[in-house]
Amino acid sequence: MNNDRNSFTGSIGFVLAAAGSAVGLGNIWRFPYLAARDGGGLFLVIYLVLALTFGFALLTTEVSIGRKTKQSPLTAYGVLNKKWKPLGILACVIPMMIMPYYCVIGGWVVKYFLAFLTGSGAQTAEDGYFTGFITDTSTPIGMTIVFLFLTMVVVLGGVDKGIEKFSKIIMPILVVLILFIAVFALTINHTDTEGITRSGLEGLKILFVPDMESVTVTTFFSTLMDAMGQLFYSLSVAMGIMIAYGSYMKDDTNLSKAIGQIEIFDTGIAFLAGVMIIPAVYVFMGREGMQASGPGLMFISLPKVFAEMGVIGNVIGCLFFAMVLFAATTSAVSILEAIVSSFMDQFKLDRKRATLLEGFIALVLGIIVCLGYNRFYFEITLPNGAVAQILDIFDYVSNNLLMPIVAIGTCILVGWVLKPEAMIAEITKNGEKFTRKGLYIVMVRFIAPILLLILLLKAVGVI
Ligand code: PHE
Repeated sequence: MNNDRNSFTGSIGFVLAAAGSAVGLGNIWRFPYLAARDGGGLFLVIYLVLALTFGFALLTTEVSIGRKTKQSPLTAYGVLNKKWKPLGILACVIPMMIMPYYCVIGGWVVKYFLAFLTGSGAQTAEDGYFTGFITDTSTPIGMTIVFLFLTMVVVLGGVDKGIEKFSKIIMPILVVLILFIAVFALTINHTDTEGITRSGLEGLKILFVPDMESVTVTTFFSTLMDAMGQLFYSLSVAMGIMIAYGSYMKDDTNLSKAIGQIEIFDTGIAFLAGVMIIPAVYVFMGREGMQASGPGLMFISLPKVFAEMGVIGNVIGCLFFAMVLFAATTSAVSILEAIVSSFMDQFKLDRKRATLLEGFIALVLGIIVCLGYNRFYFEITLPNGAVAQILDIFDYVSNNLLMPIVAIGTCILVGWVLKPEAMIAEITKNGEKFTRKGLYIVMVRFIAPILLLILLLKAVGVI
């Protein structure tokens, strides 16, 4: 059907591109914070177990759907079963909702990277800098455009010459940078104005040593939910990306081995981000510093940490934001590709037209998101209790509502309508071993949909 379909040149290209998608802002600004908040070690153990079971099942399912159908998310579900086409539409709407605000945040990262690069990183640590920046009516839009443009250039290059090539260069650099900053964070110590000295190694305890005394049934449940929500987002499943990337995977690639490598990559980087961020924040801000996650952590707390480090802080800050920019770009590229492949397969557009079309849509919506902090400013409280602006609404609807729905639908389709054997046949079609086969069947039919349903009910405030 698709003889001229692009493909990754081999297993490494696929793994690095998929890992590039999985490793993103979530690994850096949410994982360390959740780990610290939920009592360190326990969160990590739960996360690991879930990654190897729940995450593995979802990832395997999507990649095999992609490779089996050789179709984009929008068209793949309909090819598997005509009645399930609407699920494909939903799976394509999600990246279309995420793309605009991901580019806005990418734009913020560009701005901070440039500030540190030009030696004025200290300014970003001043009180009110971040709020001043995002409430400005022009700079954030300009930065969003820069980030979007960068992403489009990569996707325009195609699968092997664009996405794969880019990931093969960026991902190794990202690993080196994060390793370097993590080691640096462990070597620092600092005495504050009250004469208290804290060291990076002590900070590491917060991350790894479980705080078992305060564990109750309720906290265990909320840790489980946190770990699951984080994992789900972190693996980039339920938004069509892994179907699109799977559709570009060569038929002779060992699929289950590649999935294992993506899991190791994504989880390894999340742990390293913890080793990098927790000690640094702890040394300069104490345990209280650990209370911010998301934009608050990255754009307010960390610049203060870099400023405390003195001159070297500007260099570390520059490397840090370069690393975040790499992580964010490879993720944005994957979101854009999920949409572009859908437009190409559904509307028979060429890559250039499909990219320009989605680029335009993302630009218009991205500008609206930027204006949500000034001209269109309002505050609304979401069902999960968070006070939201336009960006948070996009985020909530896509991540908390639509993604679990698509994932539950995918589990039902594969687990009950097609039966897991259909995917297993795809995974083992060259005679490969599939060691986690039994686990896969139980996960995709029973455990994953139930866990996802609980996640969804929690997001809408029912439990
Ligand atoms: N998986 C990415 C992360 O952990 C986030 C992401 C979300 C990537 C949506 C692509 C699409 O940050």
